[in-house]
Amino acid sequence: MPAVFADLDTGVDDAMALVYLLACEEVDLVGIASTAGNVSAHQVCHNNLALLELCGVSGVPVSLGSEQPLSIPLRTAEDTHGPAGLGYAELAAPSTEATSYDAAQAWIRAAHAHPGELIGLVTGPLTSLALALRADPELPQLLRRLVIMGGSFDYRGNTSPVTEWNIHVDPEAAAEVFAAFGRHAEHASELPLVCGLNITESIVLTPQILARLATAAGAETHTMGPDDDLGRRSTATNPLIRVLEDAMRFYFEFHFRQGEGYLAHLHDPFAAAVALDPTLVTARPATIDVELHGTLTRGMTVADMAGHWGREPNAAVVTSGAPHTTRPLAEVFFDHYIERVGPFLQRLS
Ligand code: BDR
Ligand code: CA
Repeated sequence: MPAVFADLDTGVDDAMALVYLLACEEVDLVGIASTAGNVSAHQVCHNNLALLELCGVSGVPVSLGSEQPLSIPLRTAEDTHGPAGLGYAELAAPSTEATSYDAAQAWIRAAHAHPGELIGLVTGPLTSLALALRADPELPQLLRRLVIMGGSFDYRGNTSPVTEWNIHVDPEAAAEVFAAFGRHAEHASELPLVCGLNITESIVLTPQILARLATAAGAETHTMGPDDDLGRRSTATNPLIRVLEDAMRFYFEFHFRQGEGYLAHLHDPFAAAVALDPTLVTARPATIDVELHGTLTRGMTVADMAGHWGREPNAAVVTSGAPHTTRPLAEVFFDHYIERVGPFLQRLS
């Protein structure tokens, strides 16, 4: 059973990723880091604890990350994810608490408890992982695999013209993480897999696909659309579907306001699926570095795929779906997601 450690900044799509990990029966979720990003670290921690409780899961340690990035003030994204990070969803206060040790220590503990076996997943800024690497530089050698949602490769940004949110929030942390994996590339069993916007923006969730999830969970619901009143609350007959629909409506409305349509990019659940099964995708070895000084480009991920810098690859950039598959990647992903999460949510109702 693969041991997975999830580092999240929950966040609407992080929540969808967490529910997916919980739904995968073959996964042993050994810990969660709550990293500041979409909302404050405290709020992320609250969301993670509350979601676990709502899903009837106990015994997964949730740890609080630093309230600030490594060297700049925190920027949050309430416009995208709602005032508390979960859109219009309001979760009951959790009865459980965060661990006494912090998120960086949680990374280190999990890696040492499962040497050579741990799959790390990061769907938020890289602050907690960078702090863990400062405290334990040998960490990369202990991991079986690392999958990061972050960056944008030969593709536009979503926070500035060239930057992706998770990297933009803490560019120094991202630079430290990529550098650390560069130093250990020859010992790592796999290069860290990086899912940037170039791939995750192809994972487009529509209200119709969300309605398919509700059906798979045995719930009756209304298929959302741009003509609905803003903030209309879900009346789905399944409580977890209600939470996910209330969260997702905010995310749909955000993308709609941005002129992208009444849809949402499911960056983080996709990265979670890649973490469990890298054969879903094709990736190219690259040396990734982060621009820290550019006046217009600070936070940009630059990937050298042709050896210009003469440095060893420190990552593999996800570029497309599995080789020799003709089905669109998003279709493959959503079928897989609904197959896993639908029955799980049905059991909770
Ligand atoms: C990333 O930014 C966050 O807002 C999302 O949760 C995702 O991890 C996409 O750029
Ligand atoms: Ca996220």
